[in-house]
Amino acid sequence: MVASTKTTSWCRVALPLLLLLSLASRSFAGRRVSTSSMNVIDRCWRWNPNWQRNRQQLATCSVGFAGKMINNMGDNPLNPKVGTLRYGVTRMRGKVWITFQRDMQIKLQKPLLVSNFTTIDGRGANVYIAGGACFLLYGVTNVIIHSLRFHHCRSQAPGPVLGPGSKIIELGQLEGDAIRQVGSSKIWIDHNTLYECEDGLLDVTRGSTDITVSNNWFRNHDKVMLLDHDDGFVRDKNMRVTVIFNHFGPNCNQRMPRIRHGYAHVANNLYQGWTQYATGGSMNPSIRSESNLFIAPKFGNKAVTWKEDNKDGGRSWNWQSVKDVFVNGAYFSQTGNRGAAPRYSHQQRFPVADARSVSALTGSSGALRCSRRC
Ligand SMILES: *[C@@H]1O[C@H](CO)[C@@H](O)[C@H](O)[C@H]1NC(C)=O
Repeated sequence: MVASTKTTSWCRVALPLLLLLSLASRSFAGRRVSTSSMNVIDRCWRWNPNWQRNRQQLATCSVGFAGKMINNMGDNPLNPKVGTLRYGVTRMRGKVWITFQRDMQIKLQKPLLVSNFTTIDGRGANVYIAGGACFLLYGVTNVIIHSLRFHHCRSQAPGPVLGPGSKIIELGQLEGDAIRQVGSSKIWIDHNTLYECEDGLLDVTRGSTDITVSNNWFRNHDKVMLLDHDDGFVRDKNMRVTVIFNHFGPNCNQRMPRIRHGYAHVANNLYQGWTQYATGGSMNPSIRSESNLFIAPKFGNKAVTWKEDNKDGGRSWNWQSVKDVFVNGAYFSQTGNRGAAPRYSHQQRFPVADARSVSALTGSSGALRCSRRC
């Protein structure tokens, strides 16, 4: 079905590659107009006509709470990290970077349980995960999901499935999400196209944190993105999620995202209408909505925000709109008075662009069509 490549030879190419990259970025800077109009993630790797030979360079391009995904690369002799060969050989055994040799339609008979230190890289092929079960990230870290197309994911009856480490896992009922994350951290979901699934497109639940959701195209869907699914799960107070450079719409109804308890930095996204709301939540979450482009539907609800009605009506919740741009009468109801800054580490930080460039920066959202150029 898919070609799985262990990345043991990476150490031999890491140093020359780093040199090559620093030289190349100098000589390419400013030469290709298209690169300069890309967002900070895409600009990091899409300039490279040899991306197919340097696939793992992608892992250095993530920003936001996922941080850099360099644990997914092979050994990095300059900067050994937990999970690399240099740090611990046992982990390395499970480190895989999956690519696809040709276009394919994959109908999963059971949910795909993604393992620790796994990259699923759809660049170079048109890969559809459709019409059956979809992805489950269950108690894992260091996962990249890139350039896949998810649609018509279906609910699944309980039953056994082969999980990480060849263990048989007994799964309960699943509701038909495209990508469901349970108790998982350091996850990067980039450049996927997701639509028309039975339940949510992306769910982040039960203690999941340090997640970046970037460059995806979400369309034709009711419940788009859920950050924590349970009012009673207070551990999700620590949840931190970055949502950047995504295109929501057309025909999205709600949850872009809907958040409970935790914190979301939602920046430079394009909202092409909504029916119920774009940004919503309950249980005192904090949100910084920054330099997004909110285009309200011509007719219907102009409010970007929705708060589940409870005792204090969310009046004290820290929801900040910073430099967002509103079209067609869209408006954001701010509450609280703290800045809701994301407090990123050096590796997680990135420049948020002006909202007026959001259309350009999200122009290639969704799964990429790559040949020589990507
Ligand atoms: C993944 O790694 C984490 C952290 O090292 C570990 O606790 C967990 O058991 C691993 N999960 C699987 C499914 O192997």
